[in-house]
Amino acid sequence: MPIVQDRKKINNKTIVKIPDFEYGFIWEDPISGHRVGCLDVSKKEDVKKLMRDEKAILAIQDPPYNVDINDEFGNLPLNQYIGWSEKWVDNTIDILDKNSSFYVWLGADIRDGLQPLPDFIIMMRNKPVSIRNFITMRNQRGYGTQKNWMAIRQELLYYIKGEPIFDVRAEYTDIPKKTKGYYKKINGKITENFERSKSLTIRAGNVWHDIQQVFYLMHENIEGCFAQKPLKSAKRIIEASSNQRDLVVDFFGHSGSTLLQAELSKRKCYTMDINPAYCKIMVARLLHYRRTGEIGWGRTKILKEGNILADDEQLLGAPTLLDLI
Ligand SMILES: C[S@@+](CC[C@H](N)C(=O)[O-])C[C@H]1O[C@@H](n2cnc3c(N)ncnc32)[C@H](O)[C@@H]1O
Repeated sequence: MPIVQDRKKINNKTIVKIPDFEYGFIWEDPISGHRVGCLDVSKKEDVKKLMRDEKAILAIQDPPYNVDINDEFGNLPLNQYIGWSEKWVDNTIDILDKNSSFYVWLGADIRDGLQPLPDFIIMMRNKPVSIRNFITMRNQRGYGTQKNWMAIRQELLYYIKGEPIFDVRAEYTDIPKKTKGYYKKINGKITENFERSKSLTIRAGNVWHDIQQVFYLMHENIEGCFAQKPLKSAKRIIEASSNQRDLVVDFFGHSGSTLLQAELSKRKCYTMDINPAYCKIMVARLLHYRRTGEIGWGRTKILKEGNILADDEQLLGAPTLLDLI
């Protein structure tokens, strides 16, 4: 079995080895067929190297938003940021199936002319995809001053190529429908909205206020990943816009939320990050989940300024009986 390649002995205990990444290396998952590459999405040859002529049904892209949130990303002049965005957008559209969905998370900085969202949307008008929706997710933490509305929006653009799948079942939230009294005549009979309803819970629509932003008390937290998206938002997108066994891509992988959710939702995921530490964390998170059933490391310190603080044994969690096989 190929998984044997991923095992090594440390302190006489058999553990699954997490690969170390350097630029250009691609890890292939022997179990579910996922790929994680340390690559640059703005380079066509890197995207080709990861995809090897396969086409994806769904892309979920979450680039840096051109704000100084930490030392890793500076603020580019807007036209340079849009020029860079155009490269990764073209490289993404090239590897999408003729019927596919393309989601882009982006910010609109209230302190800086709402950049980069409006310019990005205008740039996208010339691309061979059409805008299908504009979703806003409500974050719990925000920024702003006592003299302004707190900035808690997280924008999600939804583009399509051809006629992709949309499974409306993924849209239902856990929030019960409460309001009765919307009457409508159906086949001559006055009906109330609860009678007509397909579900007892409300639809998410294009304002998602039911998703908890990741923070340190949550199991799925990866302490030190500053831009981690919740698994719940990845699940909603993946299950609405792909079928089981479809290929999903995320070329700004970071904490690996798309990769892990693809595993949970039985899809295959090809992902990359330009930073070798995040590539390793993505693979470690997947292997840790397979070994322990945990979806993150909660409060454990995992990364600081892009450097991994935990060793392989800590990342993988306690060995189980499966390790004896
Ligand atoms: C906003 S984070 C993505 C967060 C991710 N959605 C998650 O849930 O964890 C952006 C990531 O893009 C990576 N990145 C930046 N430039 C890149 C490039 N040219 N190619 C690939 N990855 C890049 C960064 O290292 C960072 O980890």
